[in-house]
Amino acid sequence: MLLAFLLVASALLPGAKAGITVYSVPNQVVFATTSLSGSASAPAYTGVAAYNPTTLIPPPVPTPAVPSTFNIQLNTGGTPGASIEQSGDFIGFSVEMSVSNQVLGKNSTHIQVPFLNLLGNIVQRAGSVRVRVGGNSQESATLVDASKIPDGRILQKNLTGVTGTTQTPPLEFSDDLLYMMSNISSLVNVKWFLGIPWFVTKPFDLAIVGAAERILGDKVIGYQASNEPDLYIAHGHRPLPGASSYGPFDYFGEFSDLLTQLAASGLDPTGRAASLLIGPSVADATWTPEMVFDTGYVDAYSANLAWLSVEKYPTDNCAAAFNTGAPIIDPQSVFQDFLNHTAHTSLLAPYLNSTAFAQSKNKKMLMFETNSASCGGFGGISDAFGAALWGLDYALQMAHSNFSGAMFHVGGQNVFYNPFTSPPTNQSSFHQWTIGPIYYSALVMAEAMGATNHTQVLDLQANNNNEFTPAYAIYESGKPARVALFNYITDSTGKSDVTAVISVADATGAGGATPTQVRVKYLQATSVAQKGSYTWAGQTFGGNFASDGRLTGTEDIKTVDCDATAKTCSVKVPAPGFALVFLGGDDALTENKGAPSQTYSTTALTKTVNTATINPSVLATSNGHGGVGDPLRFSNNQLGSTSHGSVNTGMKTTPAMSLIVGCASLVGAALVAIR
Ligand SMILES: *[C@@H]1O[C@H](CO)[C@@H](O)[C@H](O)[C@H]1NC(C)=O
Ligand SMILES: *[C@@H]1O[C@H](CO)[C@@H](O)[C@H](O)[C@H]1NC(C)=O
Ligand SMILES: *[C@@H]1O[C@H](CO)[C@@H](O)[C@H](O)[C@H]1NC(C)=O
Ligand SMILES: *[C@@H]1O[C@H](CO)[C@@H](O)[C@H](O)[C@H]1NC(C)=O
Ligand SMILES: *[C@@H]1O[C@H](CO)[C@@H](O)[C@H](O)[C@H]1NC(C)=O
Ligand SMILES: *[C@@H]1O[C@H](CO)[C@@H](O)[C@H](O)[C@H]1NC(C)=O
Ligand SMILES: *[C@@H]1O[C@H](CO)[C@@H](O)[C@H](O)[C@H]1NC(C)=O
Ligand SMILES: *[C@@H]1O[C@H](CO)[C@@H](O)[C@H](O)[C@H]1NC(C)=O
Repeated sequence: MLLAFLLVASALLPGAKAGITVYSVPNQVVFATTSLSGSASAPAYTGVAAYNPTTLIPPPVPTPAVPSTFNIQLNTGGTPGASIEQSGDFIGFSVEMSVSNQVLGKNSTHIQVPFLNLLGNIVQRAGSVRVRVGGNSQESATLVDASKIPDGRILQKNLTGVTGTTQTPPLEFSDDLLYMMSNISSLVNVKWFLGIPWFVTKPFDLAIVGAAERILGDKVIGYQASNEPDLYIAHGHRPLPGASSYGPFDYFGEFSDLLTQLAASGLDPTGRAASLLIGPSVADATWTPEMVFDTGYVDAYSANLAWLSVEKYPTDNCAAAFNTGAPIIDPQSVFQDFLNHTAHTSLLAPYLNSTAFAQSKNKKMLMFETNSASCGGFGGISDAFGAALWGLDYALQMAHSNFSGAMFHVGGQNVFYNPFTSPPTNQSSFHQWTIGPIYYSALVMAEAMGATNHTQVLDLQANNNNEFTPAYAIYESGKPARVALFNYITDSTGKSDVTAVISVADATGAGGATPTQVRVKYLQATSVAQKGSYTWAGQTFGGNFASDGRLTGTEDIKTVDCDATAKTCSVKVPAPGFALVFLGGDDALTENKGAPSQTYSTTALTKTVNTATINPSVLATSNGHGGVGDPLRFSNNQLGSTSHGSVNTGMKTTPAMSLIVGCASLVGAALVAIR
């Protein structure tokens, strides 16, 4: 393919002089994939995983056909089997520490605007958002003086001697990473999780705890005490010299050593960090959580464990990602495994004893790291609409199963499962972010939970527990408030659309509390295989490289009038699709109940550039057009065409702080390819 002249805005940051350079970029198939991709028969793709255009074929319509109409009867008083109370920040993000400089920002004075907007969307609905910075790369992360890392960067990888399946290079970071996190928290209400390196225990490297307590303080809500210890033997990190084995009791002992060393270190003067530990984070590879619990772990360390945790991916794609020699899985052959409800109930069944145990010990349990498949996910599955349904059903099933939160993992450019991906560093001046299906799952989950902290979730086993059409009831303080309806099937004929007939009982009997009308928001695409441009109530983050983190388009919330005689509300769910039914009028909507909308426009900076070269008709339709003035201002609701009902709040940032912006208005222009 002959390529494209790309416009590159070479200097978009405040203080720098904006200018235009025209580059000819060879072999960039990547740039051809910004809209919905064609088909799997396109020329072989050679770019990075995050923008791979391969699409799969949706699984066939099930036979026999699913029953197309089913009843959902809810009760106002008493909800047997409903979950513990959940919060709106149930779904958060787990950012691999080694890519934190691509996702969060370059450093404390260069923060990624799209990241702020993506978090702001969740906060608007949930009140706060949880982000973990960690993962495999936390284990070998060393805090070094900022002067040791060149070019104002906050971390560097030591690529010498990289080993292990997930090939995690040792990491050196400066405390400016923590200042960057602190600066982010001053703009959006992010609560952070960090991790303590655990490969070396004599002594533990506790520097991150001291620095985080000093810089981030109560913005840190947990420190992970070991990441997947049950994989340490397999990955060559245990047994330690002098020991012959490594099991749950050894981990129990290391936890005790950690507490002793932390107390002696002086790095946790208030003892706060020692009360915020997270464990055991087993991957369920060789140890079950019970094997750790049965050492007496939770009682012994009750004062220290703020959260219990596990990590689980339903499967892995390591054979393809790292050429392990194991059979490579053809994504098409496993697509249907991500498109049914049974997948979630069977994945989570082994944890129900643990979540019950956690309740009995007055602890909250987290799914600390998860996504569709470890080692990067599957192309065509993890990055397609089906994964949005998968992630949302999984999130609701975890809530139903009495987890208290889950973090979807964010890797680099080389993975398929990212909720969001920043453009490659050298393209950040002319490309925007790519929003994956899992981000839509997180956004919709925040809205499904709402911001009250008194939300309960119940799997309704609807439609005779049909695995393609699951449904959940969502209660607020014991009263039915919302209904979540799924349809995993792809069938453009309309024959596989289903209709849920909802009624709400009260003391007067069946249907007595059925509202006169309900409001419905749909999560939609034409197929479970579709890549990008999914819509949530008509709004979208677009395709590859298309988003500054704000929803675009006009919000479309449906109103369904209920049948006053039958006392039922019939809500249709297209195949494929998801519907969130708000039992009541506009007051029932949750999208603005968490916090005022705080979105950042990227317009002002791009505009400087645009006026020089770009066709005004491109600008007129581009994302974020119309903002003027200070690049740091929040976008104005009308101008930014962001979500319905946002308010324009004042800016809180410090003048010294600049934000990394992509170039929304240039996206359209950059795509003009000469073929
Ligand atoms: C962040 O990076 C920019 C650009 O490289 C640099 O000018 C700035 O000094 C850095 N900030 C810090 C706090 O190092
Ligand atoms: C990089 O890693 C290698 C192998 O582990 C080690 O020998 C070397 O000292 C490291 N370099 C730095 C700068 O840390
Ligand atoms: C932002 O980061 C800088 C360090 O570069 C620091 O001086 C400043 O205090 C930070 N601001 C906030 C609000 O944390
Ligand atoms: C449930 O977990 C507890 C705590 O680990 C354990 O003692 C008990 O045996 C488990 N029960 C079952 C049925 O697995
Ligand atoms: C549902 O998913 C599970 C695994 O996730 C798979 O084993 C099962 O075959 C799938 N069901 C159908 C009908 O495809
Ligand atoms: C979740 O916890 C509640 C309250 O203890 C309980 O009634 C319910 O059965 C639990 N759900 C599951 C799936 O274990
Ligand atoms: C960006 O970097 C990659 C890898 O180094 C290189 O192949 C590509 O040509 C660069 N693109 C631009 C626009 O500079
Ligand atoms: C929900 O809980 C969080 C964390 O405990 C708290 O910060 C927030 O204020 C609570 N929200 C409401 C509406 O009470």
